Amino acid sequence: MNGPWVEKYRPKTLDDVVGQRHIIEHLENYVEEESMPNLMFTGPAGVGKTTTALALVKTILGEYWRQNFLELNASDARGIETVRTNIKNFCRLKPVGAPFRIVFLDEVDNMTKDAQHALRREMEMYTKTASFILSCNYSSKIIDPIQSRCAIFRFAPIKGQDIAKRLEYISEQENIDYDESAIEIIVYFAEGDMRKALNLLQAASSGEGKITEDKIYNVVSKARPKDINDMITKALTCDFMGARDLLRETMVLQGTSGEDMVNQIYQDVTKRAMEGNMDNEVYIDLIEAIADSDFRIREGANPRIQLEALLTKFL
Ligand SMILES: Nc1ncnc2c1ncn2[C@@H]1O[C@H](COP(=O)(O)OP(=O)(O)OP(=O)(O)O)[C@@H](O)[C@H]1O
Ligand SMILES: [Mg+2]
Repeated sequence: MNGPWVEKYRPKTLDDVVGQRHIIEHLENYVEEESMPNLMFTGPAGVGKTTTALALVKTILGEYWRQNFLELNASDARGIETVRTNIKNFCRLKPVGAPFRIVFLDEVDNMTKDAQHALRREMEMYTKTASFILSCNYSSKIIDPIQSRCAIFRFAPIKGQDIAKRLEYISEQENIDYDESAIEIIVYFAEGDMRKALNLLQAASSGEGKITEDKIYNVVSKARPKDINDMITKALTCDFMGARDLLRETMVLQGTSGEDMVNQIYQDVTKRAMEGNMDNEVYIDLIEAIADSDFRIREGANPRIQLEALLTKFL
């Protein structure tokens, strides 16, 4: 069987989780003490929140983890009544073969405020028998009384070099040859999201031969960073027609969306400023222009026209 690599290579133990070291160390203490407070894992997508929660549950509950574990996914119905009944039925029973029971609620930020209040009451009710692990992208969307009942762990985007190492490891396991530059470009597009990185690697690995930069571009529909860089250099040196041609070519050939183009332009300009290759004042003006285009494109304006107008600001 060769299913999705994100599942096949989901770390099974806390030790195998890439990055997030300070969090893992804390959790290992809970394992040692065989007790833990309610936990909240928060942070961007694809950085290991669900993975870490599952690994922790299996380690801390041991052999009988299945019997002592309740998982409520975002896809399950999670209205107020379901939360109450499910959690109540589960928490009423004593833990069997484990120190306590664990309720895991994924993507809590998608629950309504009313459902969150119901959840909070259940959390209070069963402090003796169960601990809760909640996971979300934005802790600001969680009501305060729940936040104050949890130890909060903020997961960070995964470092580029750590993603690269993982991709190389998986390629070796799958007997797939790759160019270094292909890995680099996956890391660039993944923006700290390991799930995105693995999905890109797998998509680019179908078919014959080794993974090359070109194969990555074929599956992402984003612009090549080098094309964006050339386009901006042309615009900054007053070659408007040259810049515009590159813009059109990229959008037509790569099928890059307006939103992605603006985003990549933003990344390139920021990189120039960070590396000291662009005056601060110029940078500030450009950011303002980029923000305007971004807004207009999202509101539905014609992306081609907006992007060409943006290029005129660079001249
Ligand atoms: N820190 C990590 N170490 C190793 N693999 C990881 C890590 N984070 C994510 N992955 C890979 O990405 C997949 C998705 O990760 P996970 O489900 O833990 O993300 P998440 O943080 O819960 O994201 P979301 O906010 O979208 O729910 C995992 O199955 C695993 O293959
Ligand atoms: Mg998750």
